[in-house]
Amino acid sequence: SGIVGYVGTRNAQQILLDGLDQLDYRGYDSAGILISDGERLGWRRATGRIKQLRDLLLREPLQQGTIGMGHTRWATHGAPTDNNSHPLTGCDERFFVVHNGIIENYMELKRELEKQGHQFTTETDTEVIPHLLETRDTGDLEETVRVILPLLRGSFALAIMSSEQPNTIIAVSQDNPLVIGFGRGEAFLASDIPALIPHTKEIYPIKNGEMAILSDTKVKVRGLDGEALEARPTVIEWERQDVMRNDYPHYMLKEIFEQPRVIEALLQVHLDEAEVYLPKLAEIWEKEPDFSVERIFIVGSGSSNHAGLIGKKMMDRWLGIPIDACSSSEFLDDHPPLGPGHLVILLSQSGETADTLSVLRTAKQHDCKVYAITNTRGGTIARQADQILYMKAGPELAIASTKAYTTQLTCLALLTIGLAERLKVGIDVEEMTELFAALRRLPVDVESTLIMTQDAIDQFAEVVFDQEHLFVIGRGLDYVLALEAALKLQEISYLHADAYQAGELKHGTMALITPGMPIIALATQQDVFSKMVNNIKEVKARGAFVMGITAIGDHQISEDADQVLYIPETHPWLMPILAAIPLQLLAYYSGVVRDLDVDRPRNLAKSMTVE
Ligand code: G6P
Ligand code: GLU
Repeated sequence: SGIVGYVGTRNAQQILLDGLDQLDYRGYDSAGILISDGERLGWRRATGRIKQLRDLLLREPLQQGTIGMGHTRWATHGAPTDNNSHPLTGCDERFFVVHNGIIENYMELKRELEKQGHQFTTETDTEVIPHLLETRDTGDLEETVRVILPLLRGSFALAIMSSEQPNTIIAVSQDNPLVIGFGRGEAFLASDIPALIPHTKEIYPIKNGEMAILSDTKVKVRGLDGEALEARPTVIEWERQDVMRNDYPHYMLKEIFEQPRVIEALLQVHLDEAEVYLPKLAEIWEKEPDFSVERIFIVGSGSSNHAGLIGKKMMDRWLGIPIDACSSSEFLDDHPPLGPGHLVILLSQSGETADTLSVLRTAKQHDCKVYAITNTRGGTIARQADQILYMKAGPELAIASTKAYTTQLTCLALLTIGLAERLKVGIDVEEMTELFAALRRLPVDVESTLIMTQDAIDQFAEVVFDQEHLFVIGRGLDYVLALEAALKLQEISYLHADAYQAGELKHGTMALITPGMPIIALATQQDVFSKMVNNIKEVKARGAFVMGITAIGDHQISEDADQVLYIPETHPWLMPILAAIPLQLLAYYSGVVRDLDVDRPRNLAKSMTVE
């Protein structure tokens, strides 16, 4: 699921391997590279992380060259074996392909090719591509690729090389990202921007219906019928420093600690004394003054979905129109009727999640307005949405979403204010003033939360060290935060963590409470506080070990819970942002004490470019 490419004058192997290291959050089942010295192609592939590929290259070195491509795989078709790793080739090692995504009609194509005598050696969908190229070889790589592209269905990013034109890489991006980076006398290819940052800030995301030809330091972009297109570079604002781990043992910890700074940067752009500044939101009405929002859908995947569920609760309290929130995959399977009066708010850190991109397409087919909250300028979602709000979290490289989640929540609070003004719902002045004051204090509160909880969380992590199960319970906003907390613990510490509505335990789940069962009880919401106290008493009565998280000043939780972690008190909508922090730290340290690879948990990928 990660592609890199290089043409230039430097040693390609080193650049490609470093690029793959930068990209391995996109998938890390297996990896491979192909190097051209201008005459011959050489390739190596290995199961496991990039380290395994590096070790293989030490044992079995490749010839040096200044052109090449590499891949890190997140297997969809066929186990992660050496043989299924990319690059893949056909019968006579003429064409080589690295591929992200899925070729949906590969079975049909494969049957047809087999009839023609092609023998397949892998279980991947990708392998049809080099075979197809062989059957349609025109003698010119660019032309041959152009001939076979219409035969492929699905979403795919491809880099293709041929032993007959060893100075050229062809790159294609069909609903699956691939970005060109322009250097001096050299050019790069990567499926994600962070891999380009060490080399250049000038990028060009290849679009559907385009083909990039990288050869001998020249880059051309053409349409699928061959016409030359102008590839005007975009300049990205991320710095080299942003993609370094610096002194932190893991990206995840670094990103947790970046939260005060990135939230501050976000608020600086969008928050005034008593006004939110969301020019892109206003543009919706500038373009269509009569647009009246009848209903809002908030959609995303994983942690982005969990952020959306919190956004729904904020908007429910203020906007007075129906607000739905759900995961992208569920939305696609089954959504209510959609139409032009609907606003679809998409949440996606990467801006490339396939499920969420499909929601975008569905929404547009039904003439809904699409407003995307995303972290990636130049990402597919940013390019295709009607309007966008950038999260400004900087590159997030650990698999687990941390600063992306809390900046999404901050964006949703700003957006709720912006929409309330736009829809003229007349919010009580005092209520509005309180939220503004809390938002202005947020970076400082986030910082204090980190300081207050960092040491105490170690003890929590010790408690859950030898447990297999853990429940996170809460009511209202605390329950939706519990969903995210449980996901974090599952991803990073492989704990069977589950979120439950504290008031619903008595209707079934209470049967699972046995003496010693660890329960994290979130009690940050004043309006349900006393009910939550009762729920804590109920599980304590059954012998659970309760760790409470609540605001400073509480005396009640500490009476019942076995341990209590205190966080600053702020506006109820922003409490999930503060309470998320000790939960992120808990997931992190629980993973670390178990000696797990917290930045790269098994079976996951940072941006899931398959549905
Ligand atoms: C993957 C990641 C999750 C992330 C989700 C949505 O599954 O592992 O951490 O929350 O995708 O990603 P997005 O980039 O769309 O926010
Ligand atoms: N579908 C291809 C495979 O399973 C590519 C998967 C990927 O995006 O890494 O090999």
